[in-house]
Amino acid sequence: MGEHRNRATAKRDVPVMLAIGLIATLAGIALSFTIDWFPVQASAQADQIDTLWDILIVVSVPVFVIVCCVVGYSVFRFRARPGEEDIDGPPIHGSTKLEVIWTAIPAIVITGLVFYSWGVLRDIEKAPASTTKEMRVIVHGVQFAWTFEYPGIKVAGQPLKSDQLFVPKDESVKFLVKSEDVIHDFWVPAWRMKVDAVPGITTSYRITPTRLGTYPVVCAELCGLGHAFMRQTAHVLEPAAFVAWVAAKRKPAAAAPAAGGTGSGATASVDAKKLFVEGNGTATACGACHTLQGAGTTGQTGPNLNEVLKADTKAQIRTSIVDPQAEIAKGYAGGIMPPNYADSLSAAELDALVNYIYDDAHAG
Ligand code: CUA
Repeated sequence: MGEHRNRATAKRDVPVMLAIGLIATLAGIALSFTIDWFPVQASAQADQIDTLWDILIVVSVPVFVIVCCVVGYSVFRFRARPGEEDIDGPPIHGSTKLEVIWTAIPAIVITGLVFYSWGVLRDIEKAPASTTKEMRVIVHGVQFAWTFEYPGIKVAGQPLKSDQLFVPKDESVKFLVKSEDVIHDFWVPAWRMKVDAVPGITTSYRITPTRLGTYPVVCAELCGLGHAFMRQTAHVLEPAAFVAWVAAKRKPAAAAPAAGGTGSGATASVDAKKLFVEGNGTATACGACHTLQGAGTTGQTGPNLNEVLKADTKAQIRTSIVDPQAEIAKGYAGGIMPPNYADSLSAAELDALVNYIYDDAHAG
């Protein structure tokens, strides 16, 4: 009885299911195109990657939506009615035709996508006409900071190093990515390209920045407690401005005393509380991980500074900032605090921070 009814209705249900699936698919695709998935395109590679994404959306949304519609429709339409609890429904012996169709269609779709993505990958990895002039940047990932080394640019006989990334616009840059501890992932979302930093090997990719400005550099691989703070900034400069930046890096000895020094005058111009709570764009904010009463921060990742520093001298506090491994507070693991504060803070900022933290920790 029940068997009969199900067979008779199934014929009529297929077009209904497909119609619902088709409407839902169009709605799903329309919805997905209203979402702003990516930041601004800032590299020559970004456009092709975004187009690939759009095509993947158009191809994959129908698969997901139609399957959901068929399942949802069937659950509702063919549910057991009162009195049918003990009926098994008609036996199903499979359908060769259906199996051929649902194997062949995905196989064709996947094959097409494989060739298309392969073409995109080949294009975005294409080397520039002259790789000898291409700029190279060695990216070092370490818990929890990125540093950048320019092997082709020498300062006092050493490769130029920077804790922020600077690149000239419209020139191909090849990044050689290394890790000094665990797996990180070097990603500038505005450039789209992304690669793991794996201990023991060097990975790489190249991009051509096409847009001036500053863009976040993030770590895209969970690498420990400070993962979320493993952020830096990429600066894309006009080629002339990049040359000027390199030139300024070549004479830091002349610039440093003016900006730094230990005099109280220089210290007074730094807003230490703001620095503690917000960082300075390069140095991660202390307050992100530490509790300090005066600053009103309640971070739990690192020790409460009012507790652990209340007996410390200013010199000890300074050491704890620039060399966090020197002394690890009881109950905390080492290697979590960024090791680059000596570079990411100016001398004046460091002085101001030491005084500020000392005063607050000794106030109680
Ligand atoms: Cu490094 Cu996440």
